[in-house]
Amino acid sequence: KPQLPLTGKKVVVTAGPTLERIDPVRYISNFSSGKMGYAMAQAAIELGAETTLISGPVALDPPLGVKLIRVESASEMLEAVLDHYTDADYVVKSAAVADYRPKTFHDQKMKKKEGAASLELERTTDILKTLGERKTTQQLIGFAAETTDALTYGKGKLESKNLDWIIVNDVTNPSGGFGSDVNVVTLISRAGVEIPFPAMEKKELAKKLLTTIVQEGQDSL
Ligand code: PMT
Repeated sequence: KPQLPLTGKKVVVTAGPTLERIDPVRYISNFSSGKMGYAMAQAAIELGAETTLISGPVALDPPLGVKLIRVESASEMLEAVLDHYTDADYVVKSAAVADYRPKTFHDQKMKKKEGAASLELERTTDILKTLGERKTTQQLIGFAAETTDALTYGKGKLESKNLDWIIVNDVTNPSGGFGSDVNVVTLISRAGVEIPFPAMEKKELAKKLLTTIVQEGQDSL
């Protein structure tokens, strides 16, 4: 039986949104369904990798054969990713991690009061940036969800977070992005090579993306 391209390799994938609690009944989150990240984990399994899927709260069944770690908040996701970082060969950060969380968690349900209210937010740790700073031999693959100048902002994130690859999606594209079964992306390498992928099912796209990354990585693009 021929060896699969990721046999013997460890892949860590993050997926879904994070959920940041305000009080026992309220939270801040985003529209990530986890479909893109779960498809990336499925692709990693199919290519032969030992795959860990670190997932925010989603309504999907994990691909057969992955090690699933469920998390809720950005800080839990950071901790889980760091636990698996040293050994990883590839880290794929498909999760839509909250950039801000409520500054204080209220133990009791917040009472409704007269007039307007405001919520004080603080920054979360940028997981991918932290990984970029600590990178040794891992291939780091980020996603960028953009609504304007997608390629420019995507390349900026590739640089500033010290990534090897970034997968840029313009989330205003009606046939892709958050929640959809389909996505339209451009894969950009550290050397600046841009590979556009037309609209296709996230499952098919994930396999093509990962295959390209593994292949081109070996040819050191
Ligand atoms: O889940 P789906 O419904 O299938 O939708 C898929 C998707 C649109 C969520 C996915 O394709 C995608 O783009 N994921 C990344 C979303 C995102 O958070 O992008 P960003 O541009 O805000 O962040 C850039 C990168 O930094 C991402 O890899 C993100 O995981 C990472 N990041 C961001 C903030 C943070 N605190 N820590 C991080 O690691």
